[in-house]
Amino acid sequence: MTPQTHRLRHATVADGASLHALVEACGTLEQNTAYAYLLLASDFADTSVVAERLGGSGALEGLVLGYRPPRRPDSVFVWQVGVAPTARGLGLAGRLLDAFAGLTAELASPAGAPYPAPPRYLEATVTPSNDASIALFRGFARRHGVPCEAQPWFEAAHFPRGAHEAEQMYRIGPLEKQS
Ligand SMILES: CC(C)(COP(=O)(O)OP(=O)(O)OC[C@H]1O[C@@H](n2cnc3c(N)ncnc32)[C@H](O)[C@@H]1OP(=O)(O)O)[C@@H](O)C(=O)NCCC(=O)NCCS
Repeated sequence: MTPQTHRLRHATVADGASLHALVEACGTLEQNTAYAYLLLASDFADTSVVAERLGGSGALEGLVLGYRPPRRPDSVFVWQVGVAPTARGLGLAGRLLDAFAGLTAELASPAGAPYPAPPRYLEATVTPSNDASIALFRGFARRHGVPCEAQPWFEAAHFPRGAHEAEQMYRIGPLEKQS
């Protein structure tokens, strides 16, 4: 059981600079432009969740950013998930994923949320060398008792100069909201 050291909430535009900095602090995540995080925190705020440290500092120490793929409306795609080194090992990433996938009632739905039904599949792409990420997604599937299927997705040759590992697509589900 995660100690309640953090409050989960949807990202807002005011988080833009903190999201950019947190991604850098996470180390292995690719840091994108500040503008990309502002887009996620505005147009994709329904599917962008942050963990805010309770008890004073209010620092952002966790994030999961993504979207509902327009061609797979039964899914929610994790673009980036990260936890600050100081907050790792507490189950925070798992808690963020559960809330992100709509499996827990931790997050109030923003007014006018556009999705008629919660997602049934959680998707993410993962590089084969990222043990923590693989453990996170496989652990999520195991905890919810659902299959986790992996298939080739982006090849190294799809990236500039091939200077990036291939990414496999993990598709986890079907998910049911806990009662
Ligand atoms: C991956 C990451 C988000 C995990 O955050 P966390 O809050 O420490 O993870 P949790 O405590 O919720 O653990 C979730 C599961 O992952 C496992 N795990 C976490 N870190 C691990 C590591 N370094 N190596 C192996 N397994 C690890 C945990 O044992 C747990 O497994 P379980 O469900 O079988 O018990 C964090 O290590 C991180 O930010 N890494 C850098 C960014 C990154 O690689 N993101 C993923 C790619 S997009």
